[in-house]
Amino acid sequence: MRRLYKSLLSGLVLFSLAVPSVYAATPEYTIEEAPGEYQSMENPQTSAADLKRGEYLYQNKCSECHGEEGEGDGDGAVIFNDKAYMTERTDGQLFYIAMEGNGEDAEMEGYGPESDYGMSEKKLWQMVTYIRTLVK
Ligand code: HEC
Repeated sequence: MRRLYKSLLSGLVLFSLAVPSVYAATPEYTIEEAPGEYQSMENPQTSAADLKRGEYLYQNKCSECHGEEGEGDGDGAVIFNDKAYMTERTDGQLFYIAMEGNGEDAEMEGYGPESDYGMSEKKLWQMVTYIRTLVK
């Protein structure tokens, strides 16, 4: 009996170790699709100065979940250094979710002008510029 208990316990430990790595590669929630007019937007903030500012903002506001190098947190945050995934995303899609968030119950909150964070559209685009450099 004691033995069974022990193996059950180690099974549980193994299971809880294995689960996060299964989810690490993909976001945990469905991500809203940005409306069409966003999908075709061009990023207006792509100068070297924008990139530098975007890096600063990203490292301060976003890296705790998305990772300093875009590696994610193993807990559902989008992995910005995943080339295959990022190739599918338009700049406008990234901008839209950064601005509006991913719906009410989502971990990803909106950071745009209307949000509690009140970041300007300019800053959001600067972060998109930086995020694009994280792809490996
Ligand atoms: C508290 C953790 C957390 C923080 C902080 C955070 N994010 Fe997110 N982000 C997430 C999660 C989790 C998702 C996946 C969608 C979801 O589950 O809400 C996501 C999704 C996204 C997406 C969607 C990408 C796509 O595939 O469409 C973008 C863009 C994004 N985040 C940008 C940012 C930016 C820019 C910042 C900083 C201003 C930031 N995030 C800060 C957790 C976070």
